[in-house]
Amino acid sequence: MTQDHEESDLRCYLADLEKAGQLVRVTKAVDPRYEIAGVMVKAAQQGKPALLFEDVKGHSIPVAANLCASRERLALALGASSETARDVYRERISRPLPVEVVSSGPCQEETLSSVDLSRLPIITAHELDAGPYITAGVVIVKDPRSGVYNASFQRVLPLGKDRAAIYIGATSDLMRCYQESGDHPLPIAIAIGLHPAFLLAAAVKFPFHVNELEVAGALRQQPVRVVRAVSVPLEVPAGAEIVLEGRVLPKVTAPEGPFGEYTGYYGAGSMAPRPSQVIEFTAMTHRRRPIYQALTTGPTPGHESSYLSCLAKEAIVLQATMAVSPAVEAVNIMLSRYIGVIQVSEKRRKGDISQIIAAAFSAMEYLKYVIVVDEDVDIDSYSDIFWAISTRVDPGKDILVFPQMRMEPLDPSTEGTCDKIGIDATVPLDRREGFTRTKIPNCESLNLDDYLP
Ligand SMILES: Cc1cc2nc3c(=O)[nH]c(=O)nc-3n(C[C@H](O)[C@H](O)[C@H](O)COP(=O)(O)O)c2cc1C
Repeated sequence: MTQDHEESDLRCYLADLEKAGQLVRVTKAVDPRYEIAGVMVKAAQQGKPALLFEDVKGHSIPVAANLCASRERLALALGASSETARDVYRERISRPLPVEVVSSGPCQEETLSSVDLSRLPIITAHELDAGPYITAGVVIVKDPRSGVYNASFQRVLPLGKDRAAIYIGATSDLMRCYQESGDHPLPIAIAIGLHPAFLLAAAVKFPFHVNELEVAGALRQQPVRVVRAVSVPLEVPAGAEIVLEGRVLPKVTAPEGPFGEYTGYYGAGSMAPRPSQVIEFTAMTHRRRPIYQALTTGPTPGHESSYLSCLAKEAIVLQATMAVSPAVEAVNIMLSRYIGVIQVSEKRRKGDISQIIAAAFSAMEYLKYVIVVDEDVDIDSYSDIFWAISTRVDPGKDILVFPQMRMEPLDPSTEGTCDKIGIDATVPLDRREGFTRTKIPNCESLNLDDYLP
């Protein structure tokens, strides 16, 4: 069965974006080295729509970008609203949907056994990056022991036409699969150009036994269709725009990096290239007239990777903190990832706030600061959060230090562990009166156009 327009493919999402006025076609010729990334970051910072670069210098393949570079767009991908996206995400990931194997798919409309990575408009984003990096490719492997599929993001640096270095984090499930494959090459596929449901599933470290393609199906509420790869024993998303097939070589590494990370730095306190694993590609398949997809990594609202990562992290922290207190209402992991804001209701009991903060730190190594606020504070507003910290915190009493906990390794200011800070920015329940928030009646509904020229 070949279908041109599967519901869960990138093209369907692009059509949805276009209908919602959330896609701009860029017809000006753009350079994949720095220029595309520059436009992406600036457009996302200014709240502009997603982008389709139709004319990429030196290439015939267009580049889709910023597809998930706002909460609204993530919500659209889930068929939810900005307000409900967090809950919809959390609810759906708990019910993975088995994949559906099909005999053929659009991702194999064209098959090339001699791979030439230079055909792809791979972007170079940061000044000191080691080269162009594939960033929005979903890396698919099968655990050699259990046969369970794993999908994740790993940056990939081409080393020639058919070889590339891949940075596999030490604690990732992909590293576990690689180690389990021992002296044998590990079959791998990189699917590029997918519906955001795949990206949202790949950005999260689900338990090892969870098939992240099934999570992608759950997020999209439609089983993922997979097709047999042409050169490796793997099944790959039938609706992908481009699929690179290959093998991670055993015991081979190549220098890789630096690379601009989500922290806003080039690595964990070092600019030195790292010895990364090497992929030898065996085939490239793609749709007719494929679309390449790119994303940038960084700590600010200009970078799509933050939105993908934070939504997932919020679900994990919400689950862990709700388990210790019924007062927890919502979680916002700020785009920098290391600061979490937790909203609590009046249902809290004495001692709950410390329990909640401890649970958040235990659930998420990324968090270095946790701020707890009341329901009247908008957890998506930086100014409201800082207002709460500045007016509801008695520093000697309300700042709690959790000594020497594990910290995410890419934080350049710590070395694997650090003291973590919890801030109780809630109003004391027995002294609420003095914290009555000032309000101007009807201010929100006033239309300034009625008053100002
Ligand atoms: C845009 C993006 C790029 C990422 N790049 C890498 C990377 O290069 N290496 C890595 O180990 N993890 C990277 N990650 C993190 C992993 O993809 C993520 O932790 C994933 O959950 C790992 O899943 P797994 O442990 O189930 O394999 C990246 C995440 C995102 C969102």
